[in-house]
Amino acid sequence: MSAYWIPRLQIAVNKIALKVLRFPVPETIRGVDSSLTLCDEMAAAGLQRVLLVTDGPLMRTGIPERLAAHLRQRDVAVEVFSDVEPDPDYALVLRGVERLNAFNAQAVLAVGGGSPIDCAKSMLMCQATGKHPSKLTGVWLYHLPRPHGLPLYAIPTTSGTGSEATVAAIVSDRAEQTKYSIIDPKLLPIKVALDPALTVGLPPAVTAATGMDALTHAVEAYIGTMGTKETNAWALRATELIGANLSKAYALGTDMEARANMQEAALLAGLAFTRATVGYVHAIAHQLGGLYHVPHGLANAIVMPHVLDFCKSACTDRLADLARAAGIAVAGANDTENADRMIAWIREMNAAMGIPSTVNALREADFDRIIAHALTEAHGTYAIPRYMQKDDARGILRQLLATN
Ligand SMILES: [Fe+2]
Repeated sequence: MSAYWIPRLQIAVNKIALKVLRFPVPETIRGVDSSLTLCDEMAAAGLQRVLLVTDGPLMRTGIPERLAAHLRQRDVAVEVFSDVEPDPDYALVLRGVERLNAFNAQAVLAVGGGSPIDCAKSMLMCQATGKHPSKLTGVWLYHLPRPHGLPLYAIPTTSGTGSEATVAAIVSDRAEQTKYSIIDPKLLPIKVALDPALTVGLPPAVTAATGMDALTHAVEAYIGTMGTKETNAWALRATELIGANLSKAYALGTDMEARANMQEAALLAGLAFTRATVGYVHAIAHQLGGLYHVPHGLANAIVMPHVLDFCKSACTDRLADLARAAGIAVAGANDTENADRMIAWIREMNAAMGIPSTVNALREADFDRIIAHALTEAHGTYAIPRYMQKDDARGILRQLLATN
């Protein structure tokens, strides 16, 4: 019997559950100024007290205050909770819950990248259940039943995490220096605005890292064993959009069409992975984030080619499909050649966008703990195409050392 029969069984059970369960898809409005339209719709829905959740860097762009002013003009009282930091942890989430309660909010508007949206999701789940966030981590199935929180509206300002389309929130455990997921369909925002004008100010490095995060979602959802016809189509379309637009958005941040297409790609990749799950790239990247605070997208971009080298033998045809979707397949080449092409293209994209191939902070002394957390995270939760042993993971980590 396979050494991995327990995680395989868990994935098989999840697959059956996925067939029965209906995952909601957030209502999405698109286009320049759709963020203001979303505010209009919140006011029209009768909301009178809204907590806007965002972070400090975004506050400096003036975007959250503009949205808050728009809501206030429509007689909606708004309080801004702008304390969100990268990789929100338990303490931050609990502070946010205090603000929610003190303000007596009727809804939350999350504005920002993955951190503010995930923080808002965690806050709402904590408030609804009255539980500490550490008691909410893991797959929702194991915590039945959980009440629905206040309605969540989301305006993503990066094009990567796809958090606006997922049933998951990532929360950091500072004591353990790792990240955990809270997974529940009730975490999904009810309404989302994809306003490309809000992403034109993103620095190229953030465009690159978040874009590669979106690509990782599409790739891991597609090569995993839990994809459906629907998630596969979303993942391929996201890959196609990223292939055609990420370099453009990186080179010219004001290219509104490229920005809008990257937002669409991030949303589609989010929809794909929230059902089909991710894989070892995320499992390892989460540890690099938890331990060394490597930004999530950057960690994924660095780890992805190595994990794909490892998985390739089990998903050659799938990687070749992705190469065709990205528009980089070689005509007349076989699947193995195109799978290699896909992995090479990811390395080329990283290099062209200034993404390093190693992690400066990584220490060999941390390998055991990174591997233990990564394999625990992945096995039984992610639909892995090829299972990894500790030594396989160790081999990948060695290649990420800056001494290489
Ligand atoms: Fe991600």
